Amino acid sequence: MAWGCAVCGLLALGGLLALLAQLARWLRADGDLTVLWAEWRGRRPENELPGKVVWVTGASSGIGEELAYQLAKIGALLAISARREDELERVKKKCLEISSLGEKDILVLRLDLTDRSSHEAATNSVLKHFGKIDVLVNNGGRSQRSLFVDTNLDVFSAIMELNYLGTISLTKYVLNHMIQRKKGKIVTMSSVMGIMGAPLASGYCASKHALQGFFNSLRTELTDYPEISIINICPGPVQSKIIQNVFTENLAKSIENSGDQSHKMPTDRCVRLTLVSMANDLKEAWISDHPYLAVCYLWQYAPTWAWWLMNKMGKKRIQNFKSGVDADVSYSRKNK
Ligand SMILES: NC(=O)c1ccc[n+]([C@@H]2O[C@H](COP(=O)([O-])OP(=O)(O)OC[C@H]3O[C@@H](n4cnc5c(N)ncnc54)[C@H](OP(=O)(O)O)[C@@H]3O)[C@@H](O)[C@H]2O)c1
Repeated sequence: MAWGCAVCGLLALGGLLALLAQLARWLRADGDLTVLWAEWRGRRPENELPGKVVWVTGASSGIGEELAYQLAKIGALLAISARREDELERVKKKCLEISSLGEKDILVLRLDLTDRSSHEAATNSVLKHFGKIDVLVNNGGRSQRSLFVDTNLDVFSAIMELNYLGTISLTKYVLNHMIQRKKGKIVTMSSVMGIMGAPLASGYCASKHALQGFFNSLRTELTDYPEISIINICPGPVQSKIIQNVFTENLAKSIENSGDQSHKMPTDRCVRLTLVSMANDLKEAWISDHPYLAVCYLWQYAPTWAWWLMNKMGKKRIQNFKSGVDADVSYSRKNK
Protein backbone atom coordinates (compact mmCIF):
# COMPACT_ATOMS: atom_id res chain seq x y z
CA MET A 1 0.00 0.00 0.00
CA ALA A 2 2.77 2.41 1.07
CA TRP A 3 4.79 1.45 -2.05
CA GLY A 4 1.73 2.04 -4.24
CA CYS A 5 1.30 5.55 -2.79
CA ALA A 6 5.00 6.32 -3.32
CA VAL A 7 4.86 5.22 -7.00
CA CYS A 8 1.69 7.29 -7.60
CA GLY A 9 3.37 10.28 -5.91
CA LEU A 10 6.46 9.92 -8.09
CA LEU A 11 4.37 9.65 -11.25
CA ALA A 12 2.38 12.74 -10.29
CA LEU A 13 5.60 14.64 -9.55
CA GLY A 14 7.08 13.53 -12.91
CA GLY A 15 3.94 14.70 -14.68
CA LEU A 16 4.06 18.05 -12.91
CA LEU A 17 7.74 18.54 -13.76
CA ALA A 18 7.09 17.68 -17.43
CA LEU A 19 4.24 20.20 -17.47
CA LEU A 20 6.42 22.88 -15.88
CA ALA A 21 9.20 22.16 -18.40
CA GLN A 22 6.72 22.60 -21.26
CA LEU A 23 5.43 25.84 -19.69
CA ALA A 24 8.99 27.18 -19.34
CA ARG A 25 9.70 26.18 -22.93
CA TRP A 26 6.56 27.99 -24.07
CA LEU A 27 7.39 31.12 -22.07
CA ARG A 28 10.78 31.50 -23.74
CA ALA A 29 9.45 30.16 -27.01
CA ASP A 30 10.28 31.57 -30.42
CA GLY A 31 7.74 29.50 -32.31
CA ASP A 32 4.25 28.14 -31.76
CA LEU A 33 3.85 24.75 -30.11
CA THR A 34 3.51 22.82 -33.40
CA VAL A 35 6.78 24.26 -34.73
CA LEU A 36 8.66 23.62 -31.51
CA TRP A 37 7.27 20.09 -31.31
CA ALA A 38 8.29 19.47 -34.94
CA GLU A 39 11.77 20.78 -34.17
CA TRP A 40 12.04 18.48 -31.14
CA ARG A 41 10.41 15.27 -32.39
CA GLY A 42 9.60 15.75 -36.08
CA ARG A 43 11.30 15.06 -39.41
CA ARG A 44 14.65 16.77 -39.85
CA PRO A 45 15.30 19.06 -42.84
CA GLU A 46 18.68 17.31 -43.26
CA ASN A 47 16.82 14.05 -44.03
CA GLU A 48 13.94 15.47 -46.06
CA LEU A 49 15.47 18.14 -48.31
CA PRO A 50 18.78 16.90 -49.84
CA GLY A 51 18.44 16.56 -53.62
CA LYS A 52 15.12 18.42 -53.69
CA VAL A 53 14.77 21.29 -56.18
CA VAL A 54 13.82 24.40 -54.20
CA TRP A 55 12.94 27.70 -55.90
CA VAL A 56 13.34 30.65 -53.52
CA THR A 57 12.06 34.09 -54.51
CA GLY A 58 13.48 37.17 -52.79
CA ALA A 59 16.80 35.34 -52.41
CA SER A 60 19.02 38.41 -52.88
CA SER A 61 18.69 39.56 -49.27
CA GLY A 62 17.45 38.84 -45.74
CA ILE A 63 15.41 35.71 -45.08
CA GLY A 64 15.59 34.48 -48.69
CA GLU A 65 19.37 34.84 -48.78
CA GLU A 66 19.74 32.87 -45.53
CA LEU A 67 17.30 30.25 -46.86
CA ALA A 68 19.62 29.78 -49.83
CA TYR A 69 22.63 29.25 -47.51
CA GLN A 70 20.93 26.78 -45.19
CA LEU A 71 19.34 24.86 -48.07
CA ALA A 72 22.69 24.71 -49.90
CA LYS A 73 24.41 23.30 -46.78
CA ILE A 74 21.72 20.62 -46.55
CA GLY A 75 22.28 19.68 -50.21
CA ALA A 76 19.09 20.99 -51.84
CA LEU A 77 19.35 22.11 -55.48
CA LEU A 78 18.51 25.77 -55.81
CA ALA A 79 16.83 28.22 -58.13
CA ILE A 80 17.30 31.68 -56.62
CA SER A 81 15.30 34.66 -57.84
CA ALA A 82 14.92 38.39 -57.23
CA ARG A 83 15.34 41.53 -59.36
CA ARG A 84 19.03 42.22 -58.58
CA GLU A 85 21.03 39.66 -60.50
CA ASP A 86 24.41 40.86 -59.15
CA GLU A 87 23.21 40.22 -55.58
CA LEU A 88 21.96 36.77 -56.59
CA GLU A 89 25.40 35.99 -58.07
CA ARG A 90 26.95 37.01 -54.73
CA VAL A 91 24.55 34.66 -52.89
CA LYS A 92 25.32 31.86 -55.34
CA LYS A 93 29.08 32.33 -54.86
CA LYS A 94 28.73 32.02 -51.09
CA CYS A 95 26.43 28.98 -51.44
CA LEU A 96 29.13 27.27 -53.50
CA GLU A 97 31.77 28.15 -50.89
CA ILE A 98 29.83 26.75 -47.92
CA SER A 99 28.36 23.62 -49.50
CA SER A 100 29.27 20.68 -51.70
CA LEU A 101 26.96 21.91 -54.49
CA GLY A 102 28.39 22.41 -57.97
CA GLU A 103 27.94 25.27 -60.42
CA LYS A 104 24.95 23.62 -62.17
CA ASP A 105 23.16 22.91 -58.88
CA ILE A 106 22.32 26.59 -58.41
CA LEU A 107 20.36 28.50 -61.02
CA VAL A 108 20.34 32.29 -60.81
CA LEU A 109 17.11 33.49 -62.37
CA ARG A 110 16.20 37.17 -62.45
CA LEU A 111 12.51 37.62 -61.62
CA ASP A 112 10.32 40.62 -60.96
CA LEU A 113 7.27 39.39 -59.08
CA THR A 114 5.27 42.36 -60.32
CA ASP A 115 5.95 41.43 -63.97
CA ARG A 116 3.33 38.70 -64.10
CA SER A 117 3.71 38.19 -67.85
CA SER A 118 7.21 36.77 -67.18
CA HIS A 119 6.18 34.12 -64.65
CA GLU A 120 5.31 31.29 -67.04
CA ALA A 121 8.64 31.62 -68.86
CA ALA A 122 10.51 31.78 -65.55
CA THR A 123 8.82 28.58 -64.37
CA ASN A 124 9.74 26.89 -67.67
CA SER A 125 13.38 28.00 -67.22
CA VAL A 126 13.58 26.29 -63.83
CA LEU A 127 11.91 23.17 -65.22
CA LYS A 128 14.25 23.13 -68.23
CA HIS A 129 17.29 23.37 -65.94
CA PHE A 130 16.28 20.87 -63.23
CA GLY A 131 13.42 18.87 -64.79
CA LYS A 132 11.21 19.39 -61.73
CA ILE A 133 10.33 21.76 -58.87
CA ASP A 134 9.85 20.10 -55.49
CA VAL A 135 9.42 23.24 -53.40
CA LEU A 136 8.45 26.81 -54.23
CA VAL A 137 9.29 29.31 -51.49
CA ASN A 138 7.21 32.46 -52.06
CA ASN A 139 9.45 34.76 -50.05
CA GLY A 140 9.94 37.97 -52.07
CA GLY A 141 7.99 40.93 -50.72
CA ARG A 142 8.09 44.36 -49.13
CA SER A 143 6.66 45.83 -45.95
CA GLN A 144 5.26 49.27 -45.15
CA ARG A 145 5.84 52.02 -42.61
CA SER A 146 3.23 54.77 -42.93
CA LEU A 147 -0.10 55.81 -41.49
CA PHE A 148 -3.09 55.15 -43.72
CA VAL A 149 -4.25 58.79 -43.62
CA ASP A 150 -0.87 59.98 -44.93
CA THR A 151 -0.49 57.30 -47.62
CA ASN A 152 -1.22 57.55 -51.32
CA LEU A 153 -3.50 54.80 -52.66
CA ASP A 154 -0.88 53.90 -55.29
CA VAL A 155 1.17 52.46 -52.43
CA PHE A 156 -1.65 50.08 -51.46
CA SER A 157 -1.98 49.00 -55.07
CA ALA A 158 1.79 48.37 -55.36
CA ILE A 159 1.88 46.33 -52.15
CA MET A 160 -0.97 44.09 -53.32
CA GLU A 161 0.59 43.79 -56.78
CA LEU A 162 3.87 42.55 -55.30
CA ASN A 163 3.04 40.66 -52.10
CA TYR A 164 -0.28 39.17 -53.15
CA LEU A 165 -0.83 39.08 -56.95
CA GLY A 166 2.84 38.47 -57.80
CA THR A 167 2.92 35.57 -55.36
CA ILE A 168 -0.27 33.87 -56.49
CA SER A 169 0.65 34.37 -60.16
CA LEU A 170 3.92 32.48 -59.75
CA THR A 171 2.17 29.86 -57.62
CA LYS A 172 -0.31 29.20 -60.44
CA TYR A 173 2.39 28.15 -62.92
CA VAL A 174 4.37 26.09 -60.41
CA LEU A 175 1.24 24.43 -59.04
CA ASN A 176 0.27 23.19 -62.55
CA HIS A 177 3.57 21.32 -62.62
CA MET A 178 3.10 19.97 -59.08
CA ILE A 179 -0.41 18.78 -59.95
CA GLN A 180 1.02 16.85 -62.92
CA ARG A 181 3.57 15.23 -60.59
CA LYS A 182 0.98 14.90 -57.80
CA LYS A 183 3.49 16.22 -55.29
CA GLY A 184 5.29 19.32 -54.08
CA LYS A 185 5.38 21.97 -51.40
CA ILE A 186 4.36 25.61 -51.67
CA VAL A 187 5.84 27.57 -48.80
CA THR A 188 4.76 31.18 -48.41
CA MET A 189 6.39 33.81 -46.21
CA SER A 190 3.34 35.41 -44.69
CA SER A 191 3.86 37.20 -41.38
CA VAL A 192 2.37 37.59 -37.91
CA MET A 193 0.83 40.59 -39.70
CA GLY A 194 -1.18 38.02 -41.67
CA ILE A 195 -2.84 37.09 -38.39
CA MET A 196 -3.07 40.35 -36.44
CA GLY A 197 -3.54 44.01 -37.32
CA ALA A 198 -1.00 46.73 -36.49
CA PRO A 199 -0.59 50.45 -37.10
CA LEU A 200 1.82 51.75 -39.79
CA ALA A 201 1.32 48.63 -41.87
CA SER A 202 -2.34 48.58 -42.91
CA GLY A 203 -1.50 47.82 -46.57
CA TYR A 204 1.14 45.22 -45.65
CA CYS A 205 -1.25 43.54 -43.17
CA ALA A 206 -3.93 43.49 -45.86
CA SER A 207 -1.57 41.82 -48.35
CA LYS A 208 -0.49 39.16 -45.83
CA HIS A 209 -4.11 38.53 -44.72
CA ALA A 210 -4.92 38.12 -48.42
CA LEU A 211 -2.16 35.52 -48.75
CA GLN A 212 -3.38 33.66 -45.68
CA GLY A 213 -6.96 33.62 -46.99
CA PHE A 214 -5.81 32.60 -50.46
CA PHE A 215 -3.55 29.73 -49.41
CA ASN A 216 -5.93 28.44 -46.73
CA SER A 217 -8.59 28.26 -49.46
CA LEU A 218 -6.25 26.77 -52.07
CA ARG A 219 -5.37 23.98 -49.62
CA THR A 220 -9.04 22.98 -49.52
CA GLU A 221 -9.07 22.71 -53.35
CA LEU A 222 -6.17 20.25 -53.31
CA THR A 223 -7.66 17.44 -51.25
CA ASP A 224 -7.23 15.05 -54.22
CA TYR A 225 -3.48 15.72 -54.00
CA PRO A 226 -2.49 14.76 -50.46
CA GLU A 227 1.20 15.02 -51.34
CA ILE A 228 0.95 18.70 -52.28
CA SER A 229 1.45 20.78 -49.13
CA ILE A 230 0.54 24.40 -48.61
CA ILE A 231 2.70 25.82 -45.85
CA ASN A 232 2.21 29.34 -44.49
CA ILE A 233 5.07 30.78 -42.44
CA CYS A 234 4.25 33.68 -40.12
CA PRO A 235 7.41 35.32 -38.77
CA GLY A 236 7.47 38.17 -36.29
CA PRO A 237 10.22 40.80 -36.58
CA VAL A 238 13.38 39.25 -38.07
CA GLN A 239 16.75 40.81 -38.89
CA SER A 240 16.88 41.60 -42.61
CA LYS A 241 16.77 44.55 -45.01
CA ILE A 242 12.98 44.71 -44.77
CA ILE A 243 12.87 48.14 -43.12
CA GLN A 244 15.39 49.71 -45.55
CA ASN A 245 13.11 48.49 -48.37
CA VAL A 246 9.69 49.43 -46.96
CA PHE A 247 6.96 51.28 -48.81
CA THR A 248 6.23 54.67 -47.24
CA GLU A 249 3.62 57.38 -47.82
CA ASN A 250 4.30 57.55 -51.55
CA LEU A 251 6.07 55.36 -54.10
CA ALA A 252 8.93 57.81 -54.68
CA LYS A 253 9.89 58.13 -51.00
CA SER A 254 12.14 55.72 -49.12
CA ILE A 255 12.41 55.54 -45.35
CA GLU A 256 14.67 58.16 -43.80
CA ASN A 257 15.97 56.11 -40.90
CA SER A 258 15.53 52.35 -40.69
CA GLY A 259 16.78 52.28 -37.08
CA ASP A 260 18.72 49.54 -35.32
CA GLN A 261 17.46 46.04 -36.19
CA SER A 262 19.62 44.04 -33.78
CA HIS A 263 16.81 43.44 -31.26
CA LYS A 264 14.92 41.30 -33.81
CA MET A 265 15.02 37.52 -34.19
CA PRO A 266 18.28 36.42 -35.87
CA THR A 267 17.70 35.50 -39.52
CA ASP A 268 19.29 32.06 -39.17
CA ARG A 269 16.85 31.06 -36.39
CA CYS A 270 13.83 32.13 -38.43
CA VAL A 271 15.14 30.19 -41.41
CA ARG A 272 15.90 27.06 -39.37
CA LEU A 273 12.33 26.96 -38.07
CA THR A 274 11.06 27.62 -41.60
CA LEU A 275 12.97 24.55 -42.83
CA VAL A 276 11.59 22.50 -39.93
CA SER A 277 8.06 23.60 -40.90
CA MET A 278 8.80 22.72 -44.53
CA ALA A 279 10.17 19.29 -43.67
CA ASN A 280 7.13 18.54 -41.50
CA ASP A 281 4.49 19.97 -43.87
CA LEU A 282 3.07 22.27 -41.19
CA LYS A 283 0.05 24.10 -42.51
CA GLU A 284 0.82 27.25 -40.54
CA ALA A 285 3.85 28.14 -38.45
CA TRP A 286 4.21 31.16 -36.15
CA ILE A 287 7.91 31.94 -35.82
CA SER A 288 8.43 34.83 -33.46
CA ASP A 289 9.76 35.98 -30.14
CA HIS A 290 7.40 37.24 -27.47
CA PRO A 291 5.45 39.46 -27.11
CA TYR A 292 4.35 39.03 -30.77
CA LEU A 293 3.98 35.28 -30.33
CA ALA A 294 1.76 35.80 -27.28
CA VAL A 295 -0.25 38.37 -29.22
CA CYS A 296 -0.78 35.77 -32.00
CA TYR A 297 -2.26 33.39 -29.43
CA LEU A 298 -4.45 36.18 -28.04
CA TRP A 299 -5.52 37.26 -31.52
CA GLN A 300 -6.52 33.68 -32.32
CA TYR A 301 -8.16 32.67 -29.06
CA ALA A 302 -9.14 35.89 -27.21
CA PRO A 303 -9.48 38.69 -29.79
CA THR A 304 -11.10 41.18 -27.41
CA TRP A 305 -7.96 41.14 -25.25
CA ALA A 306 -5.80 41.28 -28.35
CA TRP A 307 -7.52 44.44 -29.58
CA TRP A 308 -7.08 46.07 -26.16
CA LEU A 309 -3.39 45.12 -26.07
CA MET A 310 -2.74 46.17 -29.67
CA ASN A 311 -4.17 49.61 -28.94
CA LYS A 312 -1.56 49.99 -26.17
CA MET A 313 1.31 48.52 -28.19
CA GLY A 314 0.20 50.37 -31.31
CA LYS A 315 0.44 53.78 -29.62
CA LYS A 316 4.04 53.05 -28.69
CA ARG A 317 4.75 51.76 -32.21
CA ILE A 318 3.60 55.05 -33.74
CA GLN A 319 5.60 57.08 -31.18
CA ASN A 320 8.72 55.05 -31.97
CA PHE A 321 8.24 55.53 -35.69
CA LYS A 322 7.76 59.28 -35.33
CA SER A 323 10.87 59.58 -33.18
CA GLY A 324 12.99 57.78 -35.80
CA VAL A 325 13.76 54.50 -34.03
CA ASP A 326 12.54 51.09 -35.17
CA ALA A 327 8.77 50.88 -34.63
CA ASP A 328 9.05 47.69 -32.57
CA VAL A 329 12.14 48.56 -30.56
CA SER A 330 10.33 49.01 -27.21
CA TYR A 331 8.99 45.46 -26.92
CA SER A 332 12.27 43.62 -27.03
CA ARG A 333 13.96 42.26 -23.92
CA LYS A 334 17.27 42.14 -25.83
CA ASN A 335 17.14 45.86 -26.29
CA LYS A 336 16.75 46.77 -22.63
N1 LIG B 1 12.02 40.57 -41.71
C1 LIG B 1 10.87 40.53 -41.08
O1 LIG B 1 10.74 41.07 -39.98
C2 LIG B 1 9.72 39.77 -41.68
C3 LIG B 1 8.67 39.40 -40.85
C4 LIG B 1 7.59 38.72 -41.40
C5 LIG B 1 7.57 38.40 -42.74
N2 LIG B 1 8.60 38.78 -43.55
C6 LIG B 1 8.52 38.46 -44.97
O2 LIG B 1 9.69 37.80 -45.37
C7 LIG B 1 9.90 38.02 -46.75
C8 LIG B 1 11.36 38.40 -47.00
O3 LIG B 1 11.61 39.66 -46.42
P1 LIG B 1 12.99 40.04 -45.72
O4 LIG B 1 12.68 40.35 -44.33
O5 LIG B 1 14.04 39.06 -46.03
O6 LIG B 1 13.26 41.45 -46.45
P2 LIG B 1 14.43 41.93 -47.42
O7 LIG B 1 15.76 41.71 -46.82
O8 LIG B 1 14.05 43.30 -47.83
O9 LIG B 1 14.28 40.96 -48.69
C9 LIG B 1 13.21 41.10 -49.58
C10 LIG B 1 13.49 40.30 -50.83
O10 LIG B 1 12.37 40.45 -51.73
C11 LIG B 1 12.87 40.77 -53.02
N3 LIG B 1 11.93 41.59 -53.79
C12 LIG B 1 11.45 42.83 -53.49
N4 LIG B 1 10.69 43.27 -54.50
C13 LIG B 1 10.68 42.30 -55.45
C14 LIG B 1 10.09 42.17 -56.74
N5 LIG B 1 9.34 43.15 -57.29
N6 LIG B 1 10.28 41.03 -57.43
C15 LIG B 1 11.05 40.05 -56.92
N7 LIG B 1 11.65 40.10 -55.72
C16 LIG B 1 11.46 41.22 -55.01
C17 LIG B 1 14.17 41.54 -52.77
O11 LIG B 1 15.06 41.39 -53.88
P3 LIG B 1 15.31 42.50 -55.02
O12 LIG B 1 15.25 43.85 -54.39
O13 LIG B 1 16.66 42.13 -55.54
O14 LIG B 1 14.23 42.25 -56.04
C18 LIG B 1 14.73 40.77 -51.57
O15 LIG B 1 15.46 39.66 -52.01
C19 LIG B 1 8.89 39.08 -47.18
O16 LIG B 1 7.79 38.47 -47.82
C20 LIG B 1 8.44 39.68 -45.86
O17 LIG B 1 7.14 40.20 -45.94
C21 LIG B 1 9.67 39.45 -43.04
